[in-house]
Amino acid sequence: MNSNTIRQKFLSFFEEKQHEIVSSAPIVLKDDPTLMFTNSGMNQFKDYFLGYTEPKFKRAADTQKCLRVSGKHNDLDDVGKDTYHHTMFEMLGNWSFGDYFKKEAIAWAWELLTEVFKISKENLYVTIFEGNEEENLPEDTEAATFWKEHIAENRILKGDKKDNFWEMGASGPCGPCSEIHVDLRSEEEKKKKSGAELVNKDHPQVVEIWNLVFMQFNRKADGSLENLPHYHIDTGMGFERLCMVLQNKTSNYDTDVFSSLIQKVEELTQHQYNKNTATDVAIRVVVDHLRAVSFAIADGQLPSNTGAGYVIRRILRRAISYAYRFLNQKDTFIYRLVDGFVHQYGDAFPELKRNQDLITKVIEQEEESFLKTIHQGLNLLNDLIEKTDGRVLEGKAVFELYDTYGFPLDLSQLIAAEKGFSIDEKAYEAEMEKQKQRSKAAATSSKGDWEILLEGAEENFIGYDACQANVEISRYRVVEDKKGQFYQLVFNQTPFYAEGGGQVGDKGYLLTEEGDKIEILDTKKENNLIYHLAQKLPQNFKNLKAVVNESRRKNIMRNHTATHLLHQALRTILGTHVEQKGSYVSEDYLRFDFSHFEKLTEEQLNLIQQFVNNRIKEEIPLEENREISLAEALEKGAMALFGEKYGDKVRMIQFGDSKELCGGTHAGNTADLFTFKIIAETSSAAGIRRIEAVTGQGALEFYQSYQAKYEQIEELMGNPAHLNAAIEKLIAENQKNQEKIKGLEKIAVGLEKEKWLKEEKNIKGISSILVQTEMDNSGIKDLIFNLKSENPERFILVMNTQNDKPTLSVGVGNDLVKKRGLNAGQLVREWAKIIKGGGGGQPDFASAGGKEVAQLPEVLKTAQEFLENL
Ligand code: ALA
Repeated sequence: MNSNTIRQKFLSFFEEKQHEIVSSAPIVLKDDPTLMFTNSGMNQFKDYFLGYTEPKFKRAADTQKCLRVSGKHNDLDDVGKDTYHHTMFEMLGNWSFGDYFKKEAIAWAWELLTEVFKISKENLYVTIFEGNEEENLPEDTEAATFWKEHIAENRILKGDKKDNFWEMGASGPCGPCSEIHVDLRSEEEKKKKSGAELVNKDHPQVVEIWNLVFMQFNRKADGSLENLPHYHIDTGMGFERLCMVLQNKTSNYDTDVFSSLIQKVEELTQHQYNKNTATDVAIRVVVDHLRAVSFAIADGQLPSNTGAGYVIRRILRRAISYAYRFLNQKDTFIYRLVDGFVHQYGDAFPELKRNQDLITKVIEQEEESFLKTIHQGLNLLNDLIEKTDGRVLEGKAVFELYDTYGFPLDLSQLIAAEKGFSIDEKAYEAEMEKQKQRSKAAATSSKGDWEILLEGAEENFIGYDACQANVEISRYRVVEDKKGQFYQLVFNQTPFYAEGGGQVGDKGYLLTEEGDKIEILDTKKENNLIYHLAQKLPQNFKNLKAVVNESRRKNIMRNHTATHLLHQALRTILGTHVEQKGSYVSEDYLRFDFSHFEKLTEEQLNLIQQFVNNRIKEEIPLEENREISLAEALEKGAMALFGEKYGDKVRMIQFGDSKELCGGTHAGNTADLFTFKIIAETSSAAGIRRIEAVTGQGALEFYQSYQAKYEQIEELMGNPAHLNAAIEKLIAENQKNQEKIKGLEKIAVGLEKEKWLKEEKNIKGISSILVQTEMDNSGIKDLIFNLKSENPERFILVMNTQNDKPTLSVGVGNDLVKKRGLNAGQLVREWAKIIKGGGGGQPDFASAGGKEVAQLPEVLKTAQEFLENL
């Protein structure tokens, strides 16, 4: 059975059991501060479990793109080393939201595996939660009872909290779970040792394939558990492992999910898979990481230096460094795998096809720059080896290589070993620990639990229609971070827009009955819960008036509308390959990132600007449709963003032909924008350009500052009737003066030279010029070279006192360098000490700066003595 069929059969099975088939959520999470990436199928339903949102359906199933590379679930270091872990994997899941519970979840999982997929019952084991005294949790005898209906009792094993109590993160929904494991060993092996003894023991052929979680609790911020109002089912089955089982393989990487990709690596690197441990690991790392990084880029997460982008960069760098070390790839090559990869996955995940060029380009560029780093690191490592007495390299220095240049420890070890050196690993680890502590200290923040004041409040956003509203606080909590203590306030309804979709959050204030104002510093959301940040709590939680800073909001609205018009302009003028890759909309300006491979020309920028300004002139009114079905909106040609999760009902914002799915706030008419001005066009990442622009107030300020500059220049020029002509005249005069100066300089240098020559003395057969002067150092250098070339037996010391700082310049004629072994560099270093300075150079010319002018006679004396003693 090929992998596409397996995926389909899973979904059909649950569809027949009245499950809604939903699409995978994006791999990169945008509105969840507790998680960077989707790490399991249930993430997108978290709000349903916690009771924040009413579920749209009672049952659902899907295949979810997951990434486990940070936080509680992090498999990165294992990937490649074994044959069944991945950074990115597909998780097949079925859910019940307060509907069926353990009995059905167990029965259906069993039916699917043994009857549809026909896995032999003899190869299956299941686990149940044994309970935990500390947490006061009993053994899950209920699950055991249901399992006994399907499987022999000796195949039901008990597991502890680590394996059989599933939690999404440090807080949030959780509960006991039951895992299904499959034993893929040969009959002979099975006779030697029972599979039961190998469950959850990291055996590569006795692996967990499915986890059935019985969601019963919410883990609170203080670590305690509370019962959820309803019980839910959350299951997750590793798609790649299931394929391995059904295709009778012993490694996920031998299934058709990876095989063609591995073939391509073999072809490109000339290394065979399944031949040698080290190269096998590297090949698995490369194909796994390519998949993870490509999906992340398609969902809008580019590699970068911070947050989720940094994690993606590290994954890719891990692949590059494995390829470099074990597959002998000293040049870019991973990007060449993208083609085949997209070909294989593009039908199931069309976002890959749409972003193929971008994925290729970004990976290639990342490879180029990391390979440069590797080469730089190699040089630094060689320097370190040269400097080291003994055979052990300092841990601290090697750590710096890792920390500053991203040069991995194992790579340093390998290179050091080749040269007969080892690394002080203890010291390295100690540095790593110190750094971890530092970043932990920097990131310290804590959150209290929500204090619920009003049960069942809708907590909706009403700010499309109003900037003020009477509200009461429905819940709040205390948070603390580096900046201090704050309150997150949630209202029963709010006119404040929460940061999202590129648009900044609203600011404003809460007005109490007594007339006090409590400042709202920002508005954000966690999942769908909108909270307002304040430094204090009102005395009374009811009868409050929430007031948005309206003039600020209006500027934001203008800029948001401008991003839509700009998007339309870009696609019209540059082409439909342009896709939005990020945006930032604030009260001051807007920023728009989009896929395009070249710098925009002046002419293109003018056309784009004109296009938007024409839409402004046309005074196009906003047409807003808040409740249109996703399908209908797309059919009408609305632009949707990739990596964005849309519900069935969406909001469509239309200004004439510009139609976008958008949750932001907008101007009522394009004319409100007043005008649109592009202020910068730059590159934001490989294959991504960035435009920054202003409208309304921002544009006005932009033009006003230009006018102010213009007026200053006019004034400086003495308010001439024709400014251009006056500046041109000034430039011409300046040029003439420059020429005159050059002529005069020549004369001055001639005079200076005469002066120096008058000082020339023969000391011990050397024509020596020892002088003090005041002129610029480059002039001195020219003159010294001129004098040396006239007479290669000359020795010249010039002490310059221009600008009150003494400098020394020493010239040694070439014959003196060769025959007498004089070295200007050495001499200048010595003599500079006398004036408390330093410098250096070549044997024939060197210079130095110093501090003490008063010591120059001492320098002169020393130089004379030196020459006399030669
Ligand atoms: N959420 C459960 C898991 O990820 C199913 O294992």
